[in-house]
Amino acid sequence: MVDEQLALETIHKVRNGVSVVTSFRGDEINGLTVAWASQVSYSPPMVMISVGPGRHTHDMIKESGCFAINILGESKMELAKHFGMQSGRKVKKFENIEYERKVTGAPILIDAIAYLDCKVHSSHTAGDHTIFVGTIEDCKICSDEEPLIYRTTDYWG
Ligand SMILES: Cc1cc2nc3c(=O)[nH]c(=O)nc-3n(C[C@H](O)[C@H](O)[C@H](O)COP(=O)(O)O)c2cc1C
Repeated sequence: MVDEQLALETIHKVRNGVSVVTSFRGDEINGLTVAWASQVSYSPPMVMISVGPGRHTHDMIKESGCFAINILGESKMELAKHFGMQSGRKVKKFENIEYERKVTGAPILIDAIAYLDCKVHSSHTAGDHTIFVGTIEDCKICSDEEPLIYRTTDYWG
């Protein structure tokens, strides 16, 4: 068996951006920060996110069949912490956050540098996470700011 800690450190050499993935259930909206988001198909363009089943947003995505990937700029680490270090089960994360709803109804953050508004195409269990593959229903590049790059030490010392 491979050394798990070494595998995690090695995987971290793959650079990831930081996004806020949003969804909804009835009148309730929520979002979580993710580093695990990626393109998975060229034609048609498709994306995936990997979300822990314990996250409040997880079941919203499952039930609504929709999610939006809000890509954060390099100046938005505090926003990444806001959505990524507390749960929507305890906090109304959208209380002071500006957003719009576009095609799928998943919240689009006004502060995102770009967004991908997606419908769930399929979901797959992968170890302790669920991979949601999405088809893109709407998207926009909103700013030319560089994306925020994920570094574990920025969040967990
Ligand atoms: C920078 C950063 C990246 C994260 N990446 C992921 C991720 O890819 N997948 C995931 O399930 N959780 C990830 N998390 C953890 C969730 O954002 C966190 O558990 C969040 O509080 C869940 O919110 P919710 O319970 O309201 O859905 C990340 C957190 C941070 C700060």
